[in-house]
Amino acid sequence: MTRVFSGVKPTGHLTLGNYLGAMRQWAAVDQHRAESLFCIVDLHALTVDHDPARVRRLSRQAATLLLAAGLDPRLCTVFVQSHVDEHARLSYLLECVATDGEMRRMIQYKEKAAREQRRGGSVRLSLLTYPVLMAADILAYGTDEVPVGDDQAQHVELSRDLAVRFNQRYGHTFTVPRATLPTVAARVMNLQDPTSKMGKSDDTGPGIVYLLDEPDVARKKVMRAVSDSGREVVYDRESRPGVANLLEILAACTGVDPQEAAGAYESYGALKRDAAEAVVEVLRPVQERHKELCADPGHVEEVLRDGAERARAMARPTVDAAYRAIGLLPAG
Ligand code: TYM
Repeated sequence: MTRVFSGVKPTGHLTLGNYLGAMRQWAAVDQHRAESLFCIVDLHALTVDHDPARVRRLSRQAATLLLAAGLDPRLCTVFVQSHVDEHARLSYLLECVATDGEMRRMIQYKEKAAREQRRGGSVRLSLLTYPVLMAADILAYGTDEVPVGDDQAQHVELSRDLAVRFNQRYGHTFTVPRATLPTVAARVMNLQDPTSKMGKSDDTGPGIVYLLDEPDVARKKVMRAVSDSGREVVYDRESRPGVANLLEILAACTGVDPQEAAGAYESYGALKRDAAEAVVEVLRPVQERHKELCADPGHVEEVLRDGAERARAMARPTVDAAYRAIGLLPAG
């Protein structure tokens, strides 16, 4: 059976981009057709300046939201990365296979390192090795497919390279994974700056719709999305990024094709109104379920405990095999 692995990083409140680009597919498609694991990657949240209490809070919230979005622990495994030691164990071995140059070429590293430096902070070494830990997440489970948004494609590509290299040097150990991207909304853009991604760790609140935004707040954010200069509604990411973003959001929320949707609108105002309502309707059931789950925190804890146990059992044989293959003496 196909094995699927993906994750979210608890560095901020989850956004419409996380939902449309990744979580929705996990719930609607992946968990039903594959043996799937979904992980709250809290170790990754320590790679930039962080507040310990906030990371803990956001990890719990992300777990609750994954369940609210429809992940069903009877169908898939939901767990927290730091609860399964195999991720960190394997990451070190992969650091011995990856190269410094490879890490420095990663787009997200360059962007995030530049951001940290602009803020006057220093760049943590773990930010540089971030993609190796991500590769460990994926490879530890014999993953075939990694459903992610477009921004993670380069990292998944690196995981493939590391798997192939390790296998060539030390014998076949890892399945070589591949990224699967959604056909629409693989990169939901910031509503105030449609040339940059809607990212949960950004500071531009008005351009980001959070999954837990009240309907009125979400509606206003979409209605205030920046307009492009042209008047007619056309789907062209290059010349009309603002309109294209709204068309993609509308399309992803309602299941239509963005190109076709464009033909149905004469004014940008009408498109905004429909996109705003579509977003509110998509968020509504997630928010309702989130409220129910918050009333029963014991349930979420139990799901995570059980998930970690299952994940550990799945990861351990592969990681142990990698230890042996690379030349480490078994503990006996
Ligand atoms: P993270 O937490 O930034 O995002 C979680 C998922 O949401 C997708 N996504 C988006 N999709 C479309 N439009 C957007 N604006 C948008 N913003 C985020 C991301 O592509 C991702 O699929 N490094 C990863 C977490 C990770 C991981 C892994 C993922 C760690 N280990 C192993 C897969 C497999 C990250 O920071 O995702």
